[in-house]
Amino acid sequence: MTKNRERGRWGLCFGVLGALVVAGAMVTAMPHRAQAQNRPAQGVAQFNRACGRCHPDGGEDTGPDLHNLNKTEEQMTTIIRNGQKRMRAIPPNKLSNADLAKVMVYLRSIHAVR
Ligand code: HEC
Repeated sequence: MTKNRERGRWGLCFGVLGALVVAGAMVTAMPHRAQAQNRPAQGVAQFNRACGRCHPDGGEDTGPDLHNLNKTEEQMTTIIRNGQKRMRAIPPNKLSNADLAKVMVYLRSIHAVR
């Protein structure tokens, strides 16, 4: 009887230890995973700021989903700088050329630009 209870307590102890080790391993692995995801996500911040309120990622709000549009960089730049029908032009004082270049990296990653 006492033996059984003792084994149960040890089991619980090792269970807690095991959970701590697993949790620790996950926390250590997390920054690496975040870093790996940051690379293709370049330009996301600029996209969210300049386009995201109308073009939610993958969804449909006021603007159409941009995934797989497969436009050339030139076509994309024309749409952004000159506007298209319901989408107003976004001039360089709203989105600098440097930020547009970053947005382009993101757009290429979702195949909006080929
Ligand atoms: C104020 C809202 C708004 C913002 C901000 C905005 N768009 Fe748009 N966008 C629209 C709307 C609405 C349309 C649909 C225009 C139409 O009727 O053809 C559109 C259309 C487009 C199209 C054409 C899609 C197609 O199928 O031809 C592209 C490409 C596009 N937007 C890219 C962008 C990018 C990139 C940004 C950020 C630099 C951006 N848009 C910012 C509202 C917006």
